[in-house]
Amino acid sequence: MSPVLGAAVERVDGMAKTTGTARYSGELNLPNLAHAVLVGARVPSGRIIGIDCRRASVADGVHAVLTHLDLPPVAVRPRLFPGLFGLVAHGQSFFPMQDDVVHYAGQPVAVVVADTIERAEHAATLVEVNYAETPSVTLLDQARDQSYEPEKIFGGMLPGRSPSRGDPEAGLRDAAIRLDVTYRYAPNHHNPIEPSTTTAVWDDRDRLTLYDATQGPTATQLSVSELLGLSPTRLRVVSHFVGGSFGCKALIWAHPTLAALAARQVGRPVRLVLSRDQMFHSCGHREEQEQRISLGADPDGRLTALRHDKISLTSHYDDWAEPSLETPSVLYTCPNYAGGYRLARGNIISPTFTRAPGAATGVFALESAMDELACETGIDPLELRLRNHADVDPTSGNPWSSKGLRECYQRGAELFGWAGRDPRPGQRRDGDWLVGTGMASAAYPVAAPMNPQRARARLYGDGSAVVEAGIAEFGTGALTAMTQVAADGLGLPFDRVRFVGGTSDLPNIAAAVGSAGASSTSSAVHLACTALRDQLVAQAVADAGSPLHGADPGGIVVRDGRMCRRDSPEVGESYVELLQRNHLPDVDALGSWQPPPPDGGGYGLHTFGAQFAEVAVDADLGLVRVRRLVGVFAPGRILNRRTAHSQLLGGMIWGLSQALLEASRMDPHTGRWANASLADYLVPVNADAPEIVVDTIEVADSVVNPLGVKGVGEIGIVGTAAAIANAVHHATGRRIRDLPITVEALL
Ligand code: MOS
Repeated sequence: MSPVLGAAVERVDGMAKTTGTARYSGELNLPNLAHAVLVGARVPSGRIIGIDCRRASVADGVHAVLTHLDLPPVAVRPRLFPGLFGLVAHGQSFFPMQDDVVHYAGQPVAVVVADTIERAEHAATLVEVNYAETPSVTLLDQARDQSYEPEKIFGGMLPGRSPSRGDPEAGLRDAAIRLDVTYRYAPNHHNPIEPSTTTAVWDDRDRLTLYDATQGPTATQLSVSELLGLSPTRLRVVSHFVGGSFGCKALIWAHPTLAALAARQVGRPVRLVLSRDQMFHSCGHREEQEQRISLGADPDGRLTALRHDKISLTSHYDDWAEPSLETPSVLYTCPNYAGGYRLARGNIISPTFTRAPGAATGVFALESAMDELACETGIDPLELRLRNHADVDPTSGNPWSSKGLRECYQRGAELFGWAGRDPRPGQRRDGDWLVGTGMASAAYPVAAPMNPQRARARLYGDGSAVVEAGIAEFGTGALTAMTQVAADGLGLPFDRVRFVGGTSDLPNIAAAVGSAGASSTSSAVHLACTALRDQLVAQAVADAGSPLHGADPGGIVVRDGRMCRRDSPEVGESYVELLQRNHLPDVDALGSWQPPPPDGGGYGLHTFGAQFAEVAVDADLGLVRVRRLVGVFAPGRILNRRTAHSQLLGGMIWGLSQALLEASRMDPHTGRWANASLADYLVPVNADAPEIVVDTIEVADSVVNPLGVKGVGEIGIVGTAAAIANAVHHATGRRIRDLPITVEALL
């Protein structure tokens, strides 16, 4: 591997972003551009008994007002694909404005199109909708009695019961130490800075271009074309830059299709931007949920039994639950295990992926319970985890593809200064502040798409290369990391390679979901580039005019665009010399990577880490300040140290946010989110973010993919909230089992 792989290269799009020349989907200036505004249902449940569009239709600048009475119907009913990475990837199996039924507040009931956004927004207020409202359910407590055990969850990918092992009931009954605790979670919303946005442009030959803020241009192409009954050859999706996502742009919701239908109706390009309030009602959220942990242990703290049950609120038509049980179930060796999901239906949009889906909530429960067990047994929390370390995947008995968790614990403990901690709560004081420390394990699955991942590499006669794959850059640094992977694979200098993504007509890469964006794309890019390199080497070896004629291809290396013999580097020639002598303007190659099967193909596939936190709690006011965080992770190969560090750091800050701030508050009287704005939905600012140390342990992994990339997108958030809650307990002696931890709960 060349030094470019893993280097802390600056973002290739940094200049474009900081100077404002990077164009986002809602920033295109197109001739005759019209603006669409959605009208959302005011009630959470019922029927539309009348819509009066007369005032809206004659308002200044209005081109059209569409309702369920005149919107062309969609060609198919969308469905959640039975799989995490299905390329047709609808957000829910319901499409609005097909009839008069209202399933949730904010559900689109009309689309207003006008010549300016202000006029469209004004006209939207003039649409008069009358509802026959029926009783609604928007809180878990209202529907708990009618909860059911789903056959499948998570878009059909996982069973409603986790694979069990041993005899958990007997294990709990016979355990020397037992714990039975319940954790509650407020719903969360993603709140990327850029709201979901689509600009739809039809040409005069019935071809559609969608400029869409999406995690997967091809996913948008295939999903929207299915709804429109349009061949995918007639739909091109462009998504060069996306202003954050965190899961709300992973699946495809109604707005791109509504924008396309509206644009066709008015015969001009249409831009549709969701308002911040609409973002809370239009693209899913992390569901309201409760998790119960029953564990049994021997006096030495070894787990003998674990039951982990979750109940959560889903929509009326989808069995969605984020997979909160799977990652905790493989965290520790424990002979007896069972876990299951229950769902209750409510008048809400289907919940969806939210950063570290499942793991962020499930690991909070287990890692809080482990801290309680540590207190109960008097065993140091870190020592307790080492005693229960899973040397193999406890579910299957298979070896891990790679792990590194012990090393993460050790490095984290050193960086944090864990040794010598006084285990007794409420002992440390700093003025008015009670100070405490806590830790937790982190884990996240190494997920992979089911379909082959593809990329194309093309070398020009001047020795520069373009490498292409259909990914969007949503802030992770993917464009930069993939340029590095391409330069490494081709044996070219970094600045001789241009990586291009962002449209659906490039080779197919699945939507970047589940921390698999870097692993999927880097695998395809690596295979395309090494295939092209091998092709050029083979050509040189076969070329009587080449100094490498007749050499062993396996003994040839490429550095800075020059092929040479490893054993005598002076013998060789450049790509440019080879291409020019043969009158070749360019050469190209395709790379296709077939991901491992979902069951891991004989290996446990998880990424691991360790989190440490120090908090101060104001003894009188209940204020919690996080003073220090240390996170150490083993995410396999790092493609770019700078962007990987940013991802992990951002994840940990989100974990802090999950612990102390983030909560979407449902108002059951209106069925609406009561704090649907960035003023009312709390997220950390710089003053909330303490000193944060991020470090990584290098683990080689030859199983997961060609470069051994396990992903950094989500592991950073996992475990942070538990480490903080455990530190709050250590500081105060108060065990808070509800997220976020509020002042009210602490007082
Ligand atoms: Mo990520 S929450 O799986 O898009």
